[in-house]
Amino acid sequence: MRKKIVAGNWKMNTLLKDGMELAKAVEKLEKDKQSDALLIIAPPYTHLSRVNDLIDNVKLAAQNCASEESGAYTGEIAPDMLVSAGVEYVIIGHSERRSYYHEDNELLNKKTKLAISKGLKPIFCCGEVLEEREQGRLFDVIREQLTVGLAGLNMEDIKQVVIAYEPVWAIGTGVVATPDQAQEMHKFIRDLLIELFDKEVADNMTILYGGSCKPSNASELFANPDVDGGLIGGASLKAEDFLGIANAY
Ligand code: PGA
Repeated sequence: MRKKIVAGNWKMNTLLKDGMELAKAVEKLEKDKQSDALLIIAPPYTHLSRVNDLIDNVKLAAQNCASEESGAYTGEIAPDMLVSAGVEYVIIGHSERRSYYHEDNELLNKKTKLAISKGLKPIFCCGEVLEEREQGRLFDVIREQLTVGLAGLNMEDIKQVVIAYEPVWAIGTGVVATPDQAQEMHKFIRDLLIELFDKEVADNMTILYGGSCKPSNASELFANPDVDGGLIGGASLKAEDFLGIANAY
């Protein structure tokens, strides 16, 4: 049985005080959760160690990490530093990092390997832009992102990874993938994992859907056999909505 996960990506939202309130509210509501999904929250870097003191059942993620171990990289945060702040998961390759900060598949591969070597569990994101979907290139794009992004991981490394499929045209747009579109790509990703690793890895991989997921559309997305939860942006900023999504199972 693979792990079900609902992860909240807060992005660049909340000041410290609001973030701490939100984390507390999520932890409180987690107690009454009506599903066995693991809840993860990814606050901004500045909140991580304070939020870590407020959560227990809810797990902590960072939204990014450096590709280098330490040293003269002004403004970067090393995986080791995240671990020392109580972080367990790290989002790698979110489409906003790929597009605004030009993070390419090779760099994301380096981050993934370094994060795993330091004990973090990457939530590795992939997704096509609308034009790529319209041109029928969506499967090639995802194949490339995952083949390069996960290159060089051994059978133990890959067990630490969670994959998030986030069609870029659905992120923050209110346009959600249809359950069929999500299932089709999640199945493609699972089959690709058989090719890249083996069937056991593929069967055990948690594959999250992300992009305009809300309490009102989560149950039909999560009803798909290959959708194992969600990576939630906007709707993770309200504890009730976030828990509403977790309860959609
Ligand atoms: P959204 O963002 O839920 O606001 O569409 C999802 C994400 O970027 O992870």
